[in-house]
Amino acid sequence: MIITVAASKGGVGKSTTALHLANYLQTKADTLLIDGDVNRCVLEWGKRGSLPFKVADEVEGVELAKIYEHIVIDTPTHPDENDLKVMVRGCDLLVIPMTPDAMAIAATFNFINVLNKFRFKVNYRILLTMIPPRPNRVGDDARKTLLSAGLPVFKTGIRRLSVFQNAALAGVPVNMLKESYAQIAWRCYVELGKEILQ
Ligand SMILES: Nc1ncnc2c1ncn2[C@@H]1O[C@H](COP(=O)(O)OP(=O)(O)O)[C@@H](O)[C@H]1O
Ligand SMILES: [Mg+2]
Repeated sequence: MIITVAASKGGVGKSTTALHLANYLQTKADTLLIDGDVNRCVLEWGKRGSLPFKVADEVEGVELAKIYEHIVIDTPTHPDENDLKVMVRGCDLLVIPMTPDAMAIAATFNFINVLNKFRFKVNYRILLTMIPPRPNRVGDDARKTLLSAGLPVFKTGIRRLSVFQNAALAGVPVNMLKESYAQIAWRCYVELGKEILQ
């Protein structure tokens, strides 16, 4: 399966999602994460610590792709239309991370309008990320807005937890940290992985 993670906005959890999804898929079959971001975010992450799956840049990724069962592609922020076309053509699923705020919702609508202009059909689903804890309901509100616009949204949402930032600093996926919220954070991506593979 080839999964691309893309959005028009930066800082919405694209790299975090690509990394944890690859980490989950690796528990099922050999998985390659292609770091398509010029900032080499995940490659850098992996250098700080250790990642239990293969990470490559897009050049090396093309050569390696045949060997792996699952491929997750992390992408740069603000891709232009042509770059986006190249990145999503041929993927089985496009995951679009989105934070639950008005600016991000507007950006996501624009992003989907661009996808709809392509001559091929893109199988995409929106992933709500960094959802603040209850009693805050912005996560539910954002979901309602997307669903009422007829857009596909993952049932699973990713909670806003600082342990994700600690994991990035340590260069490991959250499930390798010993902190109290690490396993709760990891469960979010396990649920997402299950939803994708089901
Ligand atoms: N669910 C989350 N809760 C809290 N912080 C998060 C979460 N997901 C990502 N982050 C943090 O937010 C920042 C941006 O995330 P990142 O995955 O790099 O976004 P992008 O790739 O879209 O720019 C990073 O510091 C990351 O550690
Ligand atoms: Mg990124």
